Amino acid sequence: MNITVKRGSLPDLDCEVLLVGHFEENKAPEGAARLLDEGCNGIIGELIDRGDFEGKLYTSSVMYTRGSIAGKRILIAGLGKKGEFDLEKLRGVFSKAAQKIRDLGITQMAASLDFGEMKFAIGDVARAAVEGALLGLYRFTPYKTLEEDKKGEISECIIVENRPELLEDIEKGAQTAQIISRAVYCARDLVSTPSNDMTPSILAERAAAIATEAHLTFEALGEAAMGKLGMNALLGVARGSAEEARLIILEYNGGKKDDPPVVLVGKGITFDSGGISIKPSDKMDEMKSDMAGGAAVISAIKAAADLKLPLNVVAIVPATENLPGGRALKPGDVLKTMSGLTVEVKNTDAEGRLILADALTFAKRYNPAAIVDIATLTGACVVALGDYLVGMMGTDEELKKRISAASDATGEAVWELPLWHEYDELIKSDVADIKNVGTRAGGTITAALFLKRFADECPWVHLDIAGPALLSTDKPYIPKGASGIGVRLLTQFLMDRSQASHVSHP
Ligand code: BES
Ligand code: MN
Ligand code: ZN
Repeated sequence: MNITVKRGSLPDLDCEVLLVGHFEENKAPEGAARLLDEGCNGIIGELIDRGDFEGKLYTSSVMYTRGSIAGKRILIAGLGKKGEFDLEKLRGVFSKAAQKIRDLGITQMAASLDFGEMKFAIGDVARAAVEGALLGLYRFTPYKTLEEDKKGEISECIIVENRPELLEDIEKGAQTAQIISRAVYCARDLVSTPSNDMTPSILAERAAAIATEAHLTFEALGEAAMGKLGMNALLGVARGSAEEARLIILEYNGGKKDDPPVVLVGKGITFDSGGISIKPSDKMDEMKSDMAGGAAVISAIKAAADLKLPLNVVAIVPATENLPGGRALKPGDVLKTMSGLTVEVKNTDAEGRLILADALTFAKRYNPAAIVDIATLTGACVVALGDYLVGMMGTDEELKKRISAASDATGEAVWELPLWHEYDELIKSDVADIKNVGTRAGGTITAALFLKRFADECPWVHLDIAGPALLSTDKPYIPKGASGIGVRLLTQFLMDRSQASHVSHP
């Protein structure tokens, strides 16, 4: 979809459909809806007067202009109650409206962001509207070959604004939204791709292609190189698979040469069968999404580069399959990690923390200002927080605050769980330094405490995305399937950070 911002007014525009909004409380159309109403003999006013459209959130109504203005149709979208309206709702409104327009087979739309009075900055409004529309229109179709599954796309979206002083901010917001949405699409594509076409080496190739496009440096270590580094926990997980593991490293240097980077670490299990501690077959197919953390960091660093943020970022993705091959890890095996700590593998299905352990140790080589890891780590997090929330745990208050602020700004909701030190007891091993599982209860926290042993003194936050990574039902602007969770959150975190880069705390 080609998005442009134009100076002008909706009633003057020749377009297939004109999108405007309406709040429940409004007795008459306001903002751009009022202008259209005046140009069309009061059809919007009549629709409202007769009670045929109430402005309820996510509802909409189509009207035909019948030659009264150049535009062919009006789509009026409900904005809900004024007091409850926010940018998250606006994302949903634009998503639902765009989906409806696409369902009608319409390929060209224009919209106004003038909904009457508005307490949000116009640039943020533009960004939310464009993000909502783009994210809601996502479909994963590379494997669809049947004619009946081929549906048209909206090719053109024009944002119209009459107030010249707002144009620059709208343009910027729309640009940012397009860059970020492209990155989210990138993550969703990587996660949606089935594991037979998304092996560790293919993921590395995709990362290399993204790096070339975004001018990032790319490196991928194979098993021999990882062996030399002593990454035996990562290699231990990889032993059960015929596919060779990779450690994918992307670097973006937008900051000063000596600025310590933010290091993003993403879990890249391209398929998690559980290994010898094998999972039940029901829903095992969903474990193609166990590299969603990896996809998120690859896509976020791409967004940082596309946005030309003035800071240094490194993305690290330990990538392997977790399969029960003849040489696979067995329960009771002990591994010596790159950090030197030894781990007793009580359960081969707790593989994420094993590969992340070595990746975190590797990350510390960059002398990071902060490490943020993101992983589909525990089923316990889904039980605790459901499929809406990201679980957050970490060692640095300031860093957690910044992630929470990015969460508020993007709608990628995080909820903090405690790194409860008493539970350190639960991962003590009889034969090794630590073991890779605690009790079933509190499983998200013990997993994070395990990771903390490797993040060590470095300011660090861990994000458990097991719930929201792959959705079984639609959300207002996230179609079911791979959500791309984490991309907007991490990108916003990097944007905020690069704006406050003169501040010295982590
Ligand atoms: N990838 C899974 C976690 C997961 C579960 C992600 C459901 C998304 C949806 C992880 O590797 C895993 O299997 N964790 C185990 C840990 C347990 C053995 C301590 C779990 O949560 O059951
Ligand atoms: Mn597992
Ligand atoms: Zn896993």
